[in-house]
Amino acid sequence: MAFMDWNDNLSVNIKEIDEQHKKLLAMINELFDAMKTGKGKEVTGKTLTGLIEYVGTHFANEERLMEKHNYPGFIAHKGEHTKLTQQAKDIHHQFLQGKPVLNVELMNFLKSWLQNHILGTDKKYSPFLNGKGVS
Ligand code: FE2
Ligand code: FE2
Repeated sequence: MAFMDWNDNLSVNIKEIDEQHKKLLAMINELFDAMKTGKGKEVTGKTLTGLIEYVGTHFANEERLMEKHNYPGFIAHKGEHTKLTQQAKDIHHQFLQGKPVLNVELMNFLKSWLQNHILGTDKKYSPFLNGKGVS
């Protein structure tokens, strides 16, 4: 069973963004598997690095889209991305220092981190961007 499942409630009604969110979910699941099956630090580290990189790509994509259409909530949304990125970097830093951060708490943190951001922040741009013809 996957650690995190996609459900339509997470959809922001924009195909490109939904695909990116699905990929993020898949990467979190991959990290969970690497951890669960006791993969070495190297594999787990690479998976975590890949996840953080992709988060950066995704955030940049969303920001470009919001800015392009003059979304009124852009600045606040971008601020939240910056905060989340910092949290992810802190975790990565701890991991690189050999601290035992890859555990259930970390996974639950990533899960709620992504879920809460999609449900609480991303979904707010849907009506606006859909109204601009983005879907
Ligand atoms: Fe976002
Ligand atoms: Fe997002």
